[in-house]
Amino acid sequence: MTTQRVLITGGASGLGRALAEAWLARGARVLITDINDERGAETVFALKGRGEIHYQRANTCVAEDWVRLLEWVEENFNGLDVLVNNAGVAAAGRIDRVSMDDWDWIIDINLKGVVQGCRTFTPLFKKQGDGQIINIASLAAVACAPAMSSYNVTKAGVVALSETLRHELAPYGIRVSVVCPSFFQTNLADTMRTPEEGMDSTVRKLLAGGKIDADEVARRILKGAGKNRLMILPHSEGKMLWWMKRYLPPVFNYALGDAGRKLKRKLERNS
Ligand SMILES: NC(=O)c1ccc[n+]([C@@H]2O[C@H](COP(=O)([O-])OP(=O)(O)OC[C@H]3O[C@@H](n4cnc5c(N)ncnc54)[C@H](O)[C@@H]3O)[C@@H](O)[C@H]2O)c1
Repeated sequence: MTTQRVLITGGASGLGRALAEAWLARGARVLITDINDERGAETVFALKGRGEIHYQRANTCVAEDWVRLLEWVEENFNGLDVLVNNAGVAAAGRIDRVSMDDWDWIIDINLKGVVQGCRTFTPLFKKQGDGQIINIASLAAVACAPAMSSYNVTKAGVVALSETLRHELAPYGIRVSVVCPSFFQTNLADTMRTPEEGMDSTVRKLLAGGKIDADEVARRILKGAGKNRLMILPHSEGKMLWWMKRYLPPVFNYALGDAGRKLKRKLERNS
């Protein structure tokens, strides 16, 4: 097997870091990028004994940073095999509470950041006649829970983008997958924006209660991507919800409606 060259955005923490470890264990050459330089340096220090790992500061919302990353991989890796658009943030709140500034913030990072990654590297992948794009969405794209509209919309957008590119880019030898994980413990809550009282601790509990950890999520992503799956659902509850949405829509919609009623009572108690 040839050595893979892998770029992972948001690779200084959580899932991105776990993916870096998983690829290093397979002998890949890995470039992680992030906006958190301190965590980037820590991650490189912690993982450098496992193989070739590099860090570059790059904000996925900034076009010039993407141009710099393309130049970096051409100079240092002489190409790229896998682009993982992983960097992301979370937001929660009712539609009449979340500000338009917060909508812009999350769309810029979670959706347009992924679009910029795909736009930047597609010409290189076309030139190579080979490449793989793995976009990290969320189970939120499948099961759109109440009071999460901005996050749900960005992740559903990433699924639509990935489905489109899957069929657009396959004739050029480019494989595209999208990952929809349920909750798992990371630092995602630290950057979360919400105007809702009590939402921060609810999300922290959901992350802490994840049934599998980031390392296991990463292992399942590599397995699914290795099989060139379009939709990768690392959690068993994610697979079940996806199945229910397609084959038992009344049950699926009842469950989400029930969640909406419970949330209304809870938020009213908190305010
Ligand atoms: N943790 C979960 O339960 C969960 C569930 C479903 C999907 N996800 C998705 O997994 C991905 C990784 O998140 P995580 O849970 O590991 O969180 P995390 O906060 O631990 O890691 C995200 C990383 O992205 C970086 N980042 C944020 N904005 C950036 C930007 N504009 N440019 C570059 N880097 C940026 C952060 O600095 C951080 O290091 C996200 O897309 C998230 O939406 C997470």
